Amino acid sequence: MSHAVKPDRSIVLIGLMGVGKSTIGRRLARALDMPFRDSDEEIEAAAGRSVSEIFSDFGEPAFRDGERKVIARLLEEPPLVLALGGGAFMDPQTRERVKATAISIWLQADIPTLVRRVSRRNTRPLLRENDPVEVLQRLLDARTPAYSEADIHLDASTGSHQATLDRILEALSAREAKA
Ligand code: S3P
Repeated sequence: MSHAVKPDRSIVLIGLMGVGKSTIGRRLARALDMPFRDSDEEIEAAAGRSVSEIFSDFGEPAFRDGERKVIARLLEEPPLVLALGGGAFMDPQTRERVKATAISIWLQADIPTLVRRVSRRNTRPLLRENDPVEVLQRLLDARTPAYSEADIHLDASTGSHQATLDRILEALSAREAKA
């Protein structure tokens, strides 16, 4: 494992549902001795409802409003590792805030890998009604331009979560060395 350099700003993980942002984020936070937060969990705690319930009770626009506010609050905290819900980085204000205050990492995986991973849980409202392959491909196409604005792009489809974590730590060290 490469030497872990603790950055002086938050690290924000972005990418599609199922890519492993929360699992990898937790491990990254542990490796760097930083706090970990997950934007979906924070929204659920603030609303006292699950993400699915927020979508069905109030609709997606209300969820997106809550998401933007929660992320703005988290980015004001001392440096932490933050896993963003897959759609959060599509919000221009959130993107600007992340760019101004954090290091962003886009975790990527091919569609079959994502489908395999999302099929383990049935908690994602956007995947309930339609074929996950089609939904994820459509979201990937629509979101690639925004996701591409992340500082670091990394493959998270091959090898274990530990292998992805090692790649992230290497990328962070390389970035630190250049700064
Ligand atoms: C969403 C991703 C989910 C959650 C919500 C919408 C999206 O988070 O925020 O279901 O628009 O891609 P994960 O990416 O953590 O699954």
